[in-house]
Amino acid sequence: MTMRAAVRQQLDPTVRSNETRDFAGALRAKIVGQEEGVQALVDLYQVFCAGLNSPGRPVGNLLFLGPTGSGKTRIVEAAAEILFNDPHAVIKVDCAEFQHSHEIAKLIGSPPGYLGHRETHPLITQEALAQFHTEKLKLSLLLFDEIEKASDALWQLLLGILDKATLTLGDNRRVDLSQTMIFLTSNLGGGEISEMMGGGYGFIKAEDKPKAKLNEKVERTAVEAARRKFSPEFMNRLDKIVVFHPLQRKELEEVLEIELGQVQRRVLETAKGQFLFRVTASGREFLLQEGTDQRYGARHLKRAIERHVVYPLANLLATEQVQLGDLVCIDWDKRRNQLSFAREGENIALPPRKIESPALVRTAQARSGKAVETPAAILPLEPAPRLAR
Ligand SMILES: Nc1ncnc2c1ncn2[C@@H]1O[C@H](COP(=O)(O)OP(=O)(O)O)[C@@H](O)[C@H]1O
Ligand SMILES: [Mg+2]
Repeated sequence: MTMRAAVRQQLDPTVRSNETRDFAGALRAKIVGQEEGVQALVDLYQVFCAGLNSPGRPVGNLLFLGPTGSGKTRIVEAAAEILFNDPHAVIKVDCAEFQHSHEIAKLIGSPPGYLGHRETHPLITQEALAQFHTEKLKLSLLLFDEIEKASDALWQLLLGILDKATLTLGDNRRVDLSQTMIFLTSNLGGGEISEMMGGGYGFIKAEDKPKAKLNEKVERTAVEAARRKFSPEFMNRLDKIVVFHPLQRKELEEVLEIELGQVQRRVLETAKGQFLFRVTASGREFLLQEGTDQRYGARHLKRAIERHVVYPLANLLATEQVQLGDLVCIDWDKRRNQLSFAREGENIALPPRKIESPALVRTAQARSGKAVETPAAILPLEPAPRLAR
């Protein structure tokens, strides 16, 4: 008998494909902290790309727990933005809108013959799931937001989807969700967690406890709250439960930076109004105070930015006080406790569209002959001092 030498090559199952690595990187650029959430999404994406998702089940069922304004909804929108170039490439079911069982018709349509049958357009259909597909990516994202508010009828429907990846519509058509990632979010336990972090009620101040201990406690609190509220049947159908953490001061600053970056991008994409702006440290502090708090996390930050930055900028543009190529400095006016706007340096020559911001800054520097501070959107943070108020 001839002996065959065994050829054996060690493999590394932890290496990720470039595609997946790019996805992870892009997600981290949009989502501050919440590494576990990022990982959970990346894992699902990798399984889907490899074609290893199990037939007859959704690609994955993820439950996101944790306090309000910590990024649970945002992470799904961010994934849509990265994968489909559109943050709205998600079918989003706001469970609060389906608190009464009869409202389920808005979701699946009513049976033929029912009054108003033709007028109801079900939200979850095969076509709706496919509408964002690209040549390369036939994946759908379905988000059930704030599921603690769902009616019993919606729960029944959810259980079916999570288990069998099918949904039967009012007119008996079947929807296949086996190429769909399902995200469920809930703020359950969020109040307790905020208290724990020392938001004014504070029995445990964040500084008092070692971080790992506190994280553990935050996670336990959220999962326990979910187990109390949701049935075992439901919990057993989840692939993973991810607990989002309340955003700390430093993280809120990073979120502000990302949001200001988005505003700057919007400004640069307008036809006539391409200019740069920068927000000083005390200006940013003002926005953080207006837009964030312990109870709502970063939820109101966008609104604060719209009100205190975007609207005034729009007025300045409409009245032609700001023009193509200007650099606008946004600062905190202590006396009036609001933001002030000033034009800095000379005009910068801009190409009509699509500008590389860092290059623009260099031009501004060369033209005005002095160091132009780079806009908030482009540079790393300068530490924001706390305002005495
Ligand atoms: N971790 C985060 N990274 C980036 N932005 C965040 C994060 N958390 C919150 N935000 C900002 O706050 C807003 C509200 O967050 P959201 O995801 O809706 O909170 P919730 O956890 O209540 O679903 C988002 O649109 C985003 O602008
Ligand atoms: Mg949400």
